[in-house]
Amino acid sequence: MKTITITRPDDMHLHVRNGALLKTVLPYTAKQFARAIIMPNLKQPVVSVEQALVYREEIIAALPASWAFTPLMTLYLTASTSIDEIKNAAESEYVHAFKLYPAGATTHSDSGVADIKAIYPLFAAMEKYGIPLLIHGEVTDAECDIFDRERVFIDTYLIDIVKEFPNLRVVLEHVTTAEAVQFVESVDVNVAATITPQHLLYNRNALLVGGIRPHNYCLPVLKREQHRQALVKAATSGNPKFFLGTDSAPHLTELKENACGCAGCFSAPIAMELYAQAFESANALDKLEGFASFFGADFYSLPRNTGTITLEKIDWEIPANYQENAISITPFKALEVLNWKIA
Ligand code: DOR
Ligand code: ZN
Repeated sequence: MKTITITRPDDMHLHVRNGALLKTVLPYTAKQFARAIIMPNLKQPVVSVEQALVYREEIIAALPASWAFTPLMTLYLTASTSIDEIKNAAESEYVHAFKLYPAGATTHSDSGVADIKAIYPLFAAMEKYGIPLLIHGEVTDAECDIFDRERVFIDTYLIDIVKEFPNLRVVLEHVTTAEAVQFVESVDVNVAATITPQHLLYNRNALLVGGIRPHNYCLPVLKREQHRQALVKAATSGNPKFFLGTDSAPHLTELKENACGCAGCFSAPIAMELYAQAFESANALDKLEGFASFFGADFYSLPRNTGTITLEKIDWEIPANYQENAISITPFKALEVLNWKIA
């Protein structure tokens, strides 16, 4: 049987929620990844180091003590984040970044930032104290077409942020366009990007052809084929600016299959399998380890992991749903056949 073995990977962009949902979804990530950058967009956003430490304890308690998994915490940036909190976060061994959500851009982004220029003093503090800024890069103007929101964000905000704060480490999260790839490639080493499995595997036809497919709906939304190809090229290029971040974002099945369905693909149980499939299709399995296991750790100045994982080439069917107690979550690509499986 064909197999590949790589250094244990990290998921540099993950939503695990809290409460019962956390307990249901976290084991799937911990089986695949050694560490994950944990997004702070809970219903009550994680805005302080103190809250991040409480959330971190909840995450650790959601797994059996013998499981080796390290949550890497982030804080939710708001207009009222203080310079002191930025200093505290930079000094904490558990907090690794701030996340900027433009207000209204996505799930639980109501407390996000409405006036990005007004928080430049916060970016200056992050640059000074050396803590990365993670960006959901979409404008929220009602007039802006949803397929253009990432490109317009880059032109309107990101070019200027990178120019004003040349030493600020920035991750443009879940890039979806050729323009984002081109931007990240063209600027300094301090600027990197994460790429999700859904954006490597699917274009926007997967949302709308033959019926509306709520489980393929995420934000930023899937784009045209030319953009998907640009993302595959970036991910498989060996350029360390591009690394793995699943953006696995669980929502209850009933909230996805809904007249106003939530954004987010639950890919955690099959994440490495999906990436292996995308890299194999591009004849680039030899580039998977750098993307999944090295470049993210290097960007965050973390040691690379030591263990390994092995993927086997074998067909298997993704379950219809993952259920526990009253919770049912439909995974990305439910009931489809995958051709890789974690051993
Ligand atoms: O599709 C998404 N879901 N995109 C995001 O930016 C947030 C996420 C979520 O938290 O559900
Ligand atoms: Zn996300």
